[in-house]
Amino acid sequence: MNASELTSHFPLAQPAQTETTTQELPEAPTVLFVDQSGQLGGAEFSLLPLASACTQRGKVVLLSEGPFRGRLEALGVHVEVINEVHVSGINRDAMQLNWLRALPGIWRQVRAIAEQAKPFDVLFLNTQKALVLGALGKPLHRKRVIWHLHDIMSREHFGHAQLFIVKWLVRHAVDHVVANSRASANSLIALTGLSADAVPVVHNGIDASEFSRIDASDMAMLRRRLGLPEKAWLAGLFGRLAPWKGQHIALAALARMPDVHLVLVGAALFGEHAYAQSLHRQAEQLGIEDRVHFAGFRDDMPTWMKAMDVILHTSTEPEPFGRVIIEGMAAARPVVAAAAGGVTEILRHRKNGWLVKPGDVEGFVDAVETLRAAPEFAQRLADQAFADAQRDFSLDGYLEQMTLAIAHTAR
Ligand code: UDP
Ligand code: GLC
Repeated sequence: MNASELTSHFPLAQPAQTETTTQELPEAPTVLFVDQSGQLGGAEFSLLPLASACTQRGKVVLLSEGPFRGRLEALGVHVEVINEVHVSGINRDAMQLNWLRALPGIWRQVRAIAEQAKPFDVLFLNTQKALVLGALGKPLHRKRVIWHLHDIMSREHFGHAQLFIVKWLVRHAVDHVVANSRASANSLIALTGLSADAVPVVHNGIDASEFSRIDASDMAMLRRRLGLPEKAWLAGLFGRLAPWKGQHIALAALARMPDVHLVLVGAALFGEHAYAQSLHRQAEQLGIEDRVHFAGFRDDMPTWMKAMDVILHTSTEPEPFGRVIIEGMAAARPVVAAAAGGVTEILRHRKNGWLVKPGDVEGFVDAVETLRAAPEFAQRLADQAFADAQRDFSLDGYLEQMTLAIAHTAR
């Protein structure tokens, strides 16, 4: 594809930074959002405020039941669930698919999404499966299609077949793509040969005031409320339990830090129960069970994050973005993170956080022990992180850029 073909294929794709504001747009388009998951992962948390901002002119179709539905409805969002058992069995971390068994269900979902899309101007696809099912139906619905890319499209994360399908659909059935990080964008550019302009980046944004609102001046009380040890030095790791999120790396590091406790907040959302069990076994084998606190999935991230001395991010594969990192920054806690993917677009080593090579257990030990020994330095990192989170990852900025991307898709 040459440059002019690209421009005609993505006539509306342009860098996310633009001087137009949402208020100046003549008429906001109506949007059907599609997300494959009923669970609360990062892609769903990023859709939540956007769908909420579009309640008057939008609707969300989910491809599975789950708590995400209730969260959307609580915000006044109209939700429809189109579930097909064989299709919802396909997931991002285990991208295996019994195609033959799933085919009739896939076709029914393609048709159902196309039918749902009819009254809307734009079809907004938020996940991989939503992309496949929504974009395949383009000849039926003929709507403008935007894909919010939340993944790094590489062999580390996906199989050949999945990458091939995505490449084909992006070329033939998607009008506009927005990526959650430069790392995700670059992976799609490498896969498809699109130009950099065709894949603008909009980083996730969060409401930092939800974090500032939590009073952590009485740390003992805060921890008592959460059932955490009041006096221990606490490292918190937030995120769903999955092998590539690297909770096992944090446990291995903890075994070398006898004065530290680890709090694991998150659950196996997408069927990784064997991994969750292996973490309990690993803690036992390392003799550190009394210093590991499995908190499960929690709704009140700001409170849990504020109760920590340090926040860890240990993904062993490049993290596409990493909402938990900007949340840790908004909580004004020092963040130690695995330096790959979108993370390096958020954190600067020893300036607003601490970067470690992914999977480097010694590196995590060194980072945590350094911060523990130098609380003033740790505080400086946290203060800078807080300022950066407010400036670079605000919810308003995110919503404005995403709303614009939707408007450009519709034109
Ligand atoms: N999260 C949560 N409760 C938990 C664990 C995680 O609400 O117990 C949220 C967390 O605050 C973050 C999201 O789940 O907003 C995870 O997003 P992230 O981008 O870090 O990772 P993903 O799971 O999407 O790969
Ligand atoms: C995906 C990615 C995560 C990112 C989130 C929101 O779930 O795994 O890194 O932060 O989407 O874009």
